[in-house]
Amino acid sequence: MPNQRNPRSTPQGEHRPVLLQEILQVLDPQPGMVVVDCTVGWAGHSAELLKRIGPTGLLIGLDMDAENLAKARERMEAIGHPFHLHHSNFAGLQQVLAAHGLAHVDALLADLGMSSMQVDDAERGFSYARDGTLDMRMDRTRGRTAAEILATIPEAELAEALQELGDEPQAAIIAAAIVAARTQTPFTRTKELARIIQDATKQPSWRLHPAPGKWNLHPAARTFQALRILVNRELANLEHLLRVLPHCLRPMGRAAIISFHSGEDRLVKSSFRSGKEAGAYESVAADPLRAAWGERQSNPRSRSAKLRWAKRPEDSREF
Ligand SMILES: C[S@@+](CC[C@H](N)C(=O)[O-])C[C@H]1O[C@@H](n2cnc3c(N)ncnc32)[C@H](O)[C@@H]1O
Repeated sequence: MPNQRNPRSTPQGEHRPVLLQEILQVLDPQPGMVVVDCTVGWAGHSAELLKRIGPTGLLIGLDMDAENLAKARERMEAIGHPFHLHHSNFAGLQQVLAAHGLAHVDALLADLGMSSMQVDDAERGFSYARDGTLDMRMDRTRGRTAAEILATIPEAELAEALQELGDEPQAAIIAAAIVAARTQTPFTRTKELARIIQDATKQPSWRLHPAPGKWNLHPAARTFQALRILVNRELANLEHLLRVLPHCLRPMGRAAIISFHSGEDRLVKSSFRSGKEAGAYESVAADPLRAAWGERQSNPRSRSAKLRWAKRPEDSREF
């Protein structure tokens, strides 16, 4: 399910790391540990991990988004403990570790998807609610933008992506409307796309949910989520990370992954379960951890978050 952002959601620019207490409990960061944060964002989790591993530890942070990393660096420098940040896709984790002369770390975090700062910056193109360039690349130095993909993608392929990556029930109708609209003029703005979807689905932008205090999703929410996942190759990156993950953890090392989309959670669940069967993990989360009531109230983004963890066995036998 896409994040259910509505006019009452978190104010712009406010940033709270999701499931922070749960992450600290699961990863149990101790002084002197080497920890990798695959998705630093603005260092909400990284800053807290860094404080706990202290001056004898090392935090290695990765992010595809160079603009996020600049903010994260400022925040982490103020803490004064050792860290290194890399402008890198986490699919390249092993190369990043090798650059530090490391093969293994004590703990690893991945907090998937986009950050609230990316959504709040209209020019990045992630938001259907604010007008901006239809870009959606987390790494603006490479890859095709959402506008470029939408200009050429075959209708059937688009409908399949909207269905699989956005759980969009009206995928075929939206794909047909997008393809019809692009034959008139290629569209390049988020609001243009949101309007095409709204017209095609004949839904108003915000509708009250029958349950009190809830809102239905904006008609463009699922399409925007699907496009973002497609543009950034998010499932392929996650699959790669999950493949190399047990090889990057020390004996007794722990990994925690927060996902916001059912397709991502399925990949994590299945990889952790099969890893346990193969002996790559000693134990894994039986069920995902979810945000507590208080966090769900104060941070709407946390409502769709699912945290799964895995722990390596004590002996590093082959698997
Ligand atoms: C949900 S945010 C992380 C927020 C962070 N935990 C915090 O508390 O500030 C996800 C971040 O991961 C980055 N990201 C997404 N996919 C990535 C990938 N494959 N490799 C590296 N970074 C990625 C995004 O650019 C974004 O900054």
